[in-house]
Amino acid sequence: MHSSLLVNEPSYSNEIAQDEALDAIDPLRHFRTAKDDFDVHVKEPYLIPVQPRSVIDEVIQLSFPEKPIDGSQQVTVSLVVDASPGCGGVAWPAGEVLANYIATRGSNYIKGRKILELGSGTGLVGLVAGALGGEVQITDQAPLLGIMRRNVDMNRLQASVAVSELNWGERLSSEISQPDLILAADCVYFEPAFPLLVETLSALATCENTEILFCYKKRRKADKRFFALLKKKFTWREVDDDPNRDGYTREAISLLTLSRRIR
Ligand SMILES: C[S@@+](CC[C@H](N)C(=O)[O-])C[C@H]1O[C@@H](n2cnc3c(N)ncnc32)[C@H](O)[C@@H]1O
Repeated sequence: MHSSLLVNEPSYSNEIAQDEALDAIDPLRHFRTAKDDFDVHVKEPYLIPVQPRSVIDEVIQLSFPEKPIDGSQQVTVSLVVDASPGCGGVAWPAGEVLANYIATRGSNYIKGRKILELGSGTGLVGLVAGALGGEVQITDQAPLLGIMRRNVDMNRLQASVAVSELNWGERLSSEISQPDLILAADCVYFEPAFPLLVETLSALATCENTEILFCYKKRRKADKRFFALLKKKFTWREVDDDPNRDGYTREAISLLTLSRRIR
């Protein structure tokens, strides 16, 4: 992704104002529409099946990497999915892309690292990191903690995956320990939360060496505001060593690595 595409452009201002007004009425409306202004160019069928939004207490199994290469280890996670606690209760395509990427890098990349996932939802990405040998904290808002705990238990990952409440923009609790790898998937969708997410990323990435993998699905032009805020504290580049990149790029999903700006 080129950061030059993300600056505010005056010609978009009316559309952004309209987006904001509609967001105030229905913050999750982007998840309900089949297509939006960013997706109109997507001609390909979805590579990762779109999940029904009315899922209630179902158990699914997902394996990563989806296409193992050179005899690499495949991790299978059982996942309770339930849309009733909120949009995070189902597995989102960007989460599957991020889970697939870390599984493709394998346990050599993950083993022994202190990992924190923001906006974990079901916990999918963090569970894959835990199964690969990471010391993981999965975090989200209070309504999601129950489903996250069920998923940790179901996968018997209690020894490697801890569940904590973490509301973006709030002071970090003493439960949260400093990670060396931060994971976040599909966390850019509600404009009032943009500054809060940047604040939390800044509070967690205390040094330039903190690695951040940020998987993002473009939904609308107002998302640029998130990147305008992010730019003050971080630089970013596309992850270019993912063999599956062409597939998810067609779905308007980008996998970025963020770096803290040197002060
Ligand atoms: C679209 S879901 C993505 C869930 C998961 N990462 C995935 O890819 O399947 C966005 C997640 O961000 C969480 N979230 C939204 N606002 C938040 C906030 N202010 N603080 C913490 N988590 C938040 C939601 O609860 C939800 O689980």
